[in-house]
Amino acid sequence: MARLRLAVLISGRGTNLQSLIDACADAGYPAEIGIAISNNPDARGLERAARAGIAARTVDHRPFADREAFERALDAALGEADTGLVCLAGFMRLLTPWFVERWRDRLINIHPSLLPAFPGLDTHARVLAAGARVSGCTVHFVRAEMDRGPIVVQAAVPVVEGDDEARLAARVLAAEHRAYPLAVRLIAEGRVRIAGDRCVIDGEEESGATLFSPSSPGGR
Ligand code: GAR
Repeated sequence: MARLRLAVLISGRGTNLQSLIDACADAGYPAEIGIAISNNPDARGLERAARAGIAARTVDHRPFADREAFERALDAALGEADTGLVCLAGFMRLLTPWFVERWRDRLINIHPSLLPAFPGLDTHARVLAAGARVSGCTVHFVRAEMDRGPIVVQAAVPVVEGDDEARLAARVLAAEHRAYPLAVRLIAEGRVRIAGDRCVIDGEEESGATLFSPSSPGGR
C-alpha cells in the first residue's frame, strides 16, 4: 500500500518532527515525510530534516501582507509536495478558517495538555497552578477554533510533587513523541473515522492503543 505523505509544519526545535522522522525510517511504517516546512528560518527543526535527507522549506510569514497571503504560499508548498496529511508540530501560527477548511480532515495538531483542558499557551504553568494531578498530550484534527477538534490519541502523565514547568514539559514531551507517531499510524492505516466532533478508531477495543498512561512513581 502507498505510504501516506506527510507535511510536517514546525516553528522551533522540532523534537516532534524528529519522532515522526524516526517512525518513518521504519520501512513498515505506513507514512513518509514529503516535506518539513517552517515559518521561522532559524528553526532548529530544519537541521533535523536536513540531517535526515528530507526536503525542507522555509515559508517565512513576515513578508506577507496578511495571514491569508502567507497561507496561500503555504498551501502551494503543500500541494507541490503532494501532501496527504499536514501535521502541525510546534507550529506557532494561528491558522485562518480558510486554511483549516481547505485541509479539513487532513490537518492534525499536537497540543501539550489533555484537551479540552488547558488549550492555548503557557499550558504547563496553568496545569501546575490549577493543581491538576494528571496532564498529557492530545493529537487532534484541527478545526477553526483553536485547540479544538476530533481527538485521535491522548497520552496521560502524572503531575508529581515538586514539578516545575520544565520537568512537567519534559515528561509530557516524552509522551508526545509516542503519541504523534501512533496517531499518524492509525490515520495512515485508515483506522480513524471522524464522526461529528469525535473520532472512532477501528480496532480500538482489542488493542487499547489510543491511551497509554505510565503509572506514577511509587504507584501501582
Ligand atoms: C510541543 O510540546 C508541542 O506540543 C507544543 O510545542 C512544542 C513543540 O516542541 N505545541 C503547542 O504548544 C501548540 N499550541 P517541538 O518543536 O520540540 O516539537
